[in-house]
Amino acid sequence: MLIDIIAGARPNFMKIAPIVHAIEKQAEGTGLEYRLIHTGQHYDAKMSGDFFTQLGIPEPHVNLGSGSGTQAEQTGTIMKGYEGVLAERLSDLCLVVGDVTSTMACSVVAKKACIGVAHVEAGIRSGDRTMPEEINRLVTDSITDYFFTTSELANENLRKCGISDDAIFFVGNTMIDTLLRNLDRIQPPDFFGPEQLTSGNYILITLHRPANVDQPESLLAMLNAIAESAEGLPVIFPVHPRTRKNLELIGDLPECIRVVDPQAYLQFIYLVKNAKAVLTDSGGITEETTVMGIPCMTLRDSTERPETVTLGTNELIGTAPEKIGPAMQRLFAGQWKKGQVPPKWDGATGERIVAAISEIYQAKMPLVEECVS
Ligand code: UD1
Repeated sequence: MLIDIIAGARPNFMKIAPIVHAIEKQAEGTGLEYRLIHTGQHYDAKMSGDFFTQLGIPEPHVNLGSGSGTQAEQTGTIMKGYEGVLAERLSDLCLVVGDVTSTMACSVVAKKACIGVAHVEAGIRSGDRTMPEEINRLVTDSITDYFFTTSELANENLRKCGISDDAIFFVGNTMIDTLLRNLDRIQPPDFFGPEQLTSGNYILITLHRPANVDQPESLLAMLNAIAESAEGLPVIFPVHPRTRKNLELIGDLPECIRVVDPQAYLQFIYLVKNAKAVLTDSGGITEETTVMGIPCMTLRDSTERPETVTLGTNELIGTAPEKIGPAMQRLFAGQWKKGQVPPKWDGATGERIVAAISEIYQAKMPLVEECVS
């Protein structure tokens, strides 16, 4: 059985690593074979290459080289590229992860080629259809055959859409597999010592959502609010390429904000683990802070990962700058909640996924459907 594993953008790489490793471990005797397909949506060493090296992900078999572009341009290039790969050799299953453009583009191509689609991190919903990621989730899940989920809420969302329980596999969180596997390898970034950073004595922020970073004035207002409420602590800001363009338009930033390059995985997790708190508009980071017990403020109005709020250390602060000060006061007053780790976020998700796929294959469930055309 040939499985295509699709990865395109930074948050995909930590999600596929445990699946690739589990296939390599379990492959012997199971007849499982995989082809790693990098769509090239992210291409810089800092956004892509460093993650492959640090996480021990093998070189992709194919790189579609899609690069930057509008949503439609990226989608079109990825679809054309993957269609070409399938024309050369059809696989039995296309495994996509997360909610990025590559996830949606490849699942559509696979389905039109009558190949089964497995979606890892299926069923999560923010309810906010202005986010491209939410559209990607809806499209992908509407044509997925095997739904691998991270939470009971995701299972519920899928059942509400009429998905049968037979197709839902509640396996846990592959991003947390990667986190747990690498926690004893994390390393301080080069600037940690020279900037005199110490554990618990800085704030870490990440911002890249168009709603937060595409208008320089509102980005500056948010950064000012963070700086004013940081009680003199340095604020470390690893800057995503999308955000950097707008920071350049702003010019001078508050003095406590230290802008640094996007960090490789082991350095970034080190920064999270030692931060006083993390302020972010990412979804994945709220899962990592939950598992590490680090206070997290999400600068968005919605989350597709509500368990990080109900069980974890995350709180939805919203995008209005005036909401940041009161939350930071609670942090500094020592009133932040402690949180607990959601069920099955235990480091064994990749193995559960591969075992389930192998079982499906052994049972000869119809992975390749008959094409009527
Ligand atoms: C994408 C994902 C988002 C994810 C984020 C993490 C979608 C719809 N969005 O958003 O879910 O949280 O990645 O990083 O798929 N760029 C570089 N170098 C790179 C990659 C991108 O300079 O290696 C630049 C691009 O030229 C572009 C900007 O960064 O100007 C945005 O990249 P893009 O992939 O379009 O979307 P993201 O905002 O990164």
